[in-house]
Amino acid sequence: MLIDIKGKDVICTQELTLPQIEAILKLAKEMKADRFGEKYIELLKDKTFLMFFFNPSLRTRISFEAAATELGGHAQFLEPKTMRLKKTSHGVEVQAGETIEDAAQVLDRYACGMGIRILETSVENYGDGDALLREYARWMDAPIINMADDKYHPCQGLSDVMGMQEHKGDLTGKTVLMTWAHGSLARSYCSVHENLLITSRMGMNVRLAYPKGYDLPKEEIEKVKTNCEKNGRKFEICHDPDEAYTHDVEFVYSRNWFGPDFYEIGKKVEIERASKLTDWICNEERMKRTNNGLFVHPMPVDRGKEVTDEVASGPRSIIVDIAENRLHTQKAIMAMTIAGMKVEV
Ligand code: CP
Repeated sequence: MLIDIKGKDVICTQELTLPQIEAILKLAKEMKADRFGEKYIELLKDKTFLMFFFNPSLRTRISFEAAATELGGHAQFLEPKTMRLKKTSHGVEVQAGETIEDAAQVLDRYACGMGIRILETSVENYGDGDALLREYARWMDAPIINMADDKYHPCQGLSDVMGMQEHKGDLTGKTVLMTWAHGSLARSYCSVHENLLITSRMGMNVRLAYPKGYDLPKEEIEKVKTNCEKNGRKFEICHDPDEAYTHDVEFVYSRNWFGPDFYEIGKKVEIERASKLTDWICNEERMKRTNNGLFVHPMPVDRGKEVTDEVASGPRSIIVDIAENRLHTQKAIMAMTIAGMKVEV
C-alpha cells in the first residue's frame, strides 16, 4: 500500500491510520540509517518551516530546526512575546487586532508548514491549547505539526515506539507499564497520553499505575481501552507503586503528571502534594522484577524523583535513543506531509 499524507496535519497519532504510522516509522528508520542521503537533503529546499513556541523546549526546538536544515530548508522561530498581543477565547495571547483566521492565512503564504507548542501553563482550561492549534490548522493549507500541546505530543509518541521497536523488535503482545511518579515539575499529560494511545494502537498490553486521585482524562483512557480491546490486548489500572512491576513488563515509562484539579489549584499546590508521594519512583529493585524491562521517558527527566540515577543512566535506559529519534520521526513527517514523499508499507 502506497501511503500519501501530503498536506495532512499531525496533531495526535490517534488521528493517523495504522498504515500511516507504519509509513512514518519506516521512513524515519531509513532516514536514520542514511541521515544525509541524497534522496532527502533537498526535500525542503528554499522552504521555510515555522516553529511557534508558547512554552520552552530543548529537544523539540533543536530537533525540528535540525530536521529542517537536514532536509535543505530553514526553520524560523516564533514566540508570542515578539508579536503584538491580546487575549483570545482560548485564554492565550495572539496578535493585537488580528484573529487567528487572519494571522494563519498570512503565515500560510510564507511557510511550507508550521509546528506549534502550547502547554497547559499558557492556557486557562484543559484543551484550550489543542483547540488553538486546531484553529490554526483550520485556516492554513500548509500542514500543522503538533510540537506538544496540552493534550497530545505525536512526535514524542512516534519516537517512543521507534526506540522501543529498535530495542525489542515487534511490540505486538508486549507489555508497557506507564507509571505515575512523584516530582517537582507538575508535568503535562501530552507525552503520557501519546504513549498510551500509540502503544495501545500498536497491539501492546498497557498497564497504568498511579495514586488514587491522579486519574487521566476519561476520554483519553476510553480511547486507550478501546484500542486494547480492538487488538485483543489487556488494559489494566493499578494503584500500587510496587505491584505494578511484574515479570511480563518489557517497558517502564515512569513520569509525573498533575492531578485533574490542576487548573483550579495551580502548580504550587500540585507540586507540594505530589512531592509527598515519594514511594512512586522507578528504581533498580523494581526494574529487576520486569522482563529485562527498558526505561522509557520523553525527557527532561526529574532524576531522584521520577526515576533513580542508577536506572536513568543505566544499561536499561533508552531515553537518549528516543530523544535522538525525535529528529528522524520529524524529518519523516515533514518529508511526507510537506514535501509529499510517498512510502510503501
Ligand atoms: N520531550 C520534549 O518534548 O522535550 P522538550 O520539552 O525539551 O522539547
